Amino acid sequence: LALLGCGTVGRAFVALAAAKDAELRARYGVRPRFTGGLTRAAPGWIAPDGMAAIDLLASGWPASGTIPPGANAFGAADGSVAGARFAATCPADVVIELTPLDPLTGEPATGHVRAALAAGRQVVTANKGPIAHAYRELRALARERGVALRFESTVLDGTPIFNLAEFSLPATRVDGFRGPLNSTSNFVLGAMAGGRSSEEAVADAQAAGIAEANPAYDLDGWDASVKATVLANVLMDADLRPADVARVELGAAAMRAALAALPPGHTLKQMVEAHRAPDGSVRAEVRLKALASDDPLAHLTGMETAIQLRTDTMGDLTIIEGAGGPGQTAFGVLADVLAIARGLGAPDLPIREEDHP
Ligand SMILES: NC(=O)c1ccc[n+]([C@@H]2O[C@H](COP(=O)([O-])OP(=O)(O)OC[C@H]3O[C@@H](n4cnc5c(N)ncnc54)[C@H](OP(=O)(O)O)[C@@H]3O)[C@@H](O)[C@H]2O)c1
Repeated sequence: LALLGCGTVGRAFVALAAAKDAELRARYGVRPRFTGGLTRAAPGWIAPDGMAAIDLLASGWPASGTIPPGANAFGAADGSVAGARFAATCPADVVIELTPLDPLTGEPATGHVRAALAAGRQVVTANKGPIAHAYRELRALARERGVALRFESTVLDGTPIFNLAEFSLPATRVDGFRGPLNSTSNFVLGAMAGGRSSEEAVADAQAAGIAEANPAYDLDGWDASVKATVLANVLMDADLRPADVARVELGAAAMRAALAALPPGHTLKQMVEAHRAPDGSVRAEVRLKALASDDPLAHLTGMETAIQLRTDTMGDLTIIEGAGGPGQTAFGVLADVLAIARGLGAPDLPIREEDHP
């Protein structure tokens, strides 16, 4: 395994792999070995023989500022971050892409994933950017090279959504989905419904470490739009970009107005909804919705998030995530790595005729 980006999620993943090492070996015959790591600021490294998670953890990289014992330095002579070169050349079966999300361009993560797949490496990522901006291209490249591209942790941390659809919903068509996918917005709405001002509620979320310094990305629906794009592209074979998702009457002022107009017995949520239009296209939107008390999604509180899939086999399936975070995200990465180690395929659900003439 090679780590391209090792911040909050990367460190949680290494710790989880170390904690589960004996169990992975006993139950699956799998023992992950880390053969490379690259971040922006810490020195990069490669170790062709690899090291166990416990040894990588003990080395303190990347916080230590030095490469792990026994590894060779990897870097560009001019000090630039050579992510794509690392992805293509590091001696790894699986490249784990965990660099920050750029919701507008999906870069540099998309370039990293493309380079890894083109070099015949399997890829696991928690980064929504490549799936929101280039899923079809990357899926085609993965198929052509016969490798997996897995991304369970891109939506609702490690909550099984894509793995559920791939492994547990065979021969199923997803006709739509809905859910409060942005935990910060719904935390803020819950606090405002309890009497806090929007400014106080945002400050509460920031103090709890769950909101960005700039809360507009959450409250204005951009985070939800990127997630909706990933879900629609993967589960419904759409070809959306985040800007194609309608963002309707969002933000702090709209939240105040909608709460003031909320019918009795209802709960306000920032909701993502997607459906297939009569012409076959997929439409997705983010808006504030008043949910009646018989709606299972009305009862989520605090940081809880959920998704409801509308399927032709199982009707509506609802999955709720309690408070998520890096530990859950790391679990999704581990689940993807294990699926690859066990020889399971890429989550490209619809097998289309043009791919099998
Ligand atoms: N945190 C979560 O619970 C969560 C949940 C779901 C999805 N995700 C996604 O998972 C990914 C990682 O999240 P995170 O919270 O771990 O982020 P993070 O703490 O900011 O870590 C990002 C890592 O990427 C490195 N990096 C930045 N630019 C790079 C570049 N150009 N080339 C190589 N490495 C680079 C950083 O290095 P420096 O530290 O040296 O800058 C750092 O090691 C993101 O895409 C995020 O959206 C996170």
